[in-house]
Amino acid sequence: MTAETILVTGAAGQIGSELVPALRNIQGHEKVVASDVVQPQSGLQKAGPFEILDVTDQEALSRLIQKYQIKIIYHLAAILSASGEKSPKKAWEVNISGFYNVLEASRELGVKQVFCPSSIAVFGPATPKVHTPQDTILNPTTIYGVSKVAGEHLADYYVLRYGLDVRGCRFPGIISNETLPGGGTTDYAVAIFYAALIQGKYTCFLKPETRLPMMYMPDCLKAIINLMSADFSGLKHHSNFNVTAISFSAEELAAEIKKHLPDFEVEYRPDFRQAIADTWPESIDDSAARAEWGWQPDFDLARLTEDMLRVLGEKKKQGKLTWVIPE
Ligand code: SER
Repeated sequence: MTAETILVTGAAGQIGSELVPALRNIQGHEKVVASDVVQPQSGLQKAGPFEILDVTDQEALSRLIQKYQIKIIYHLAAILSASGEKSPKKAWEVNISGFYNVLEASRELGVKQVFCPSSIAVFGPATPKVHTPQDTILNPTTIYGVSKVAGEHLADYYVLRYGLDVRGCRFPGIISNETLPGGGTTDYAVAIFYAALIQGKYTCFLKPETRLPMMYMPDCLKAIINLMSADFSGLKHHSNFNVTAISFSAEELAAEIKKHLPDFEVEYRPDFRQAIADTWPESIDDSAARAEWGWQPDFDLARLTEDMLRVLGEKKKQGKLTWVIPE
């Protein structure tokens, strides 16, 4: 069987920059078309096809799907929680109109399968905070969360109404060492590693005791690939699977890093992102994902910390570790 051609939107972002190479290894380099609204920093466009694409441009999206005869879409283009609060209109356009365009184009042009990540941002102050259930109260307070709740329902509508195979999981904070995340509330958990290695100190925008669910990038890629490979008939949920790997507070992460770098210092200066984090769960019940498609994470806090410091430490030795202190 010949491999189906894949389109990845938002390919230059934190997840895309690692998902594209992973998919190219599985599917073949020419079969995975990377796209983004900006030119990527990494070598994405050298290792296979790359196209500039604004997902709010329905015609450009349709042209691209037809040009490459796309059959599977990983729709990663999105505005995250903290950026969304600065530009709610843009968040709505990208997250809702962009996703609607992807679903409509898929239905019209014979795309067989769509993946779109959801987020722990769908939960809100009325949601149970500990071991948050799969099917529970969704009352987000951010435009990002509102757009992700709407996106989950829109995806399920396309499954029900048109039989389109749309899948997604609610990711917690994703920690990675290839491309920095942008505009999220959980981004501190990535920045802290760069700061520890570059300057030995970090100013955290969340309180020390703020506990959030998190996941290391290899587990995130595993979740996406395993969910997309699962037998459709075995899925009861489609676009909204709770998935998690670990939960920790900012001070627990700092303490774990200090085991490797004892002189590392962290101070805490909570900003507007604290109010967002305060509405999100501390821990997640992902038993539906485990039961329906065999979800199982590999990385706990100790392994994640060790691996992050090893990879970033190697980059530092090679003079390739750069990090701009985020606002
Ligand atoms: N990492 C995301 C954010 O903080 C949550 O999905 O916005």
